[in-house]
Amino acid sequence: MAILVTGGAGYIGSHTCVELLDAGYEVVVLDNLSNSSEKSLERVKQITGKEVKFYKGDILDRDILKKILETETIESCIHFAGLKAVGESVAKPWEYYNNNIGGTLTLVDEMRKHGCKNIIFSSSATVYGDPAIIPITEECPKGTCTNPYGWSKSMLEQILSDMQKADPEWNVILLRYFNPIGAHKSGLMGENPNGIPNNLMPYITQVAVGKLKELGVFGNDYDTPDGTGVRDYIHVVDLANGHVKALKKITENVGLGIYNLGTGTGYSVLDIVKNFEEATGVKIPYVIKDRRPGDIATCYSDATKAKEELGWTAQYGIKEMCADSWNWQKNNPNGYDE
Ligand code: NAD
Ligand code: UFG
Repeated sequence: MAILVTGGAGYIGSHTCVELLDAGYEVVVLDNLSNSSEKSLERVKQITGKEVKFYKGDILDRDILKKILETETIESCIHFAGLKAVGESVAKPWEYYNNNIGGTLTLVDEMRKHGCKNIIFSSSATVYGDPAIIPITEECPKGTCTNPYGWSKSMLEQILSDMQKADPEWNVILLRYFNPIGAHKSGLMGENPNGIPNNLMPYITQVAVGKLKELGVFGNDYDTPDGTGVRDYIHVVDLANGHVKALKKITENVGLGIYNLGTGTGYSVLDIVKNFEEATGVKIPYVIKDRRPGDIATCYSDATKAKEELGWTAQYGIKEMCADSWNWQKNNPNGYDE
């Protein structure tokens, strides 16, 4: 029995492949490489000494889904494949809804036709909008998203929940990720953004490696201890392990399960700069800029439910997250491109 990992060549997917293989699972990856490199899967093999079976293709393509589901014995699917750039989603809403929603509808339709009804879905803390409760528990009502990317996650949560309600043979786990950063300890795998990074940590590491001049801090007048935005940063390897725990849970016929994957601790932008400098010895010059549209002041999780029901807690602290991000960036200044 194997696990189908859609988007498995990407940042979180590739780290999850390592943890799945180490836990003894067989892994089949489907990825169209629109935002990743096949080299990440070579690194997975280098780290684990085990093969991933790779299909290059699209979740919108029924033929390749049929081929995989007919050729492989797929027990469950971990569904990472999706477009994730917030700003781009505002400019290209159709592309985002088509890829993320259309792709997922096609995937789950083929899955059910082939009798595979276990899915773990990559959701996001973005579904809470400007959260009504801090720290955010899973009971916190979903909020208004500020962009099509966020709405695609929120809508897909609804779609998968409704499908599970209508057909209780489905087991659906929605994992709401907070802010994944860090990289595999080996420095062989990490985040590989195209162009100028949108997210904080890859921006910082590119300043550190000399590719970018200085960090722009988006606002210092939020209602937070130092005025800069507060987030729940989580090491990508911890996040990957959350999926291994969720897979164990899904085989207990969970029905619908919703879990936050975060550490439960919030750090401001300036906390991250300070921790990065302390962990790596590299100075990060920064300037204060205007707030970024759509940003909220504070977002961090209450991680109790995942601990109690999945037996999962994050192991790595902020210094390791910073050190591992830097280790990846300095060893691979151009990501997977030599
Ligand atoms: P990523 O871009 O590195 O990985 C996504 C992968 O999906 C890529 O390899 C891409 O090539 C592939 N893909 C995209 N559309 C596809 C399609 N139609 N068919 C086949 N493959 C396709 O992103 P990531 O950071 O690893 O994120 C993984 C998932 O987690 C995404 O669904 C993302 O929205 C979600 N998520 C990410 C974050 C974050 O901050 N990184 C936070 C919350 C949720
Ligand atoms: N920030 C800066 N400068 C930058 C980049 C970011 O000051 O160059 C700040 C932001 O304003 C925010 C914090 O750093 O306060 C984190 O920003 P990110 O862009 O790294 O992350 P977000 O919290 O905005 O969003 C991320 C993903 C979303 C996901 C969400 C889940 O981009 O897809 O985490 O919490 F939904």
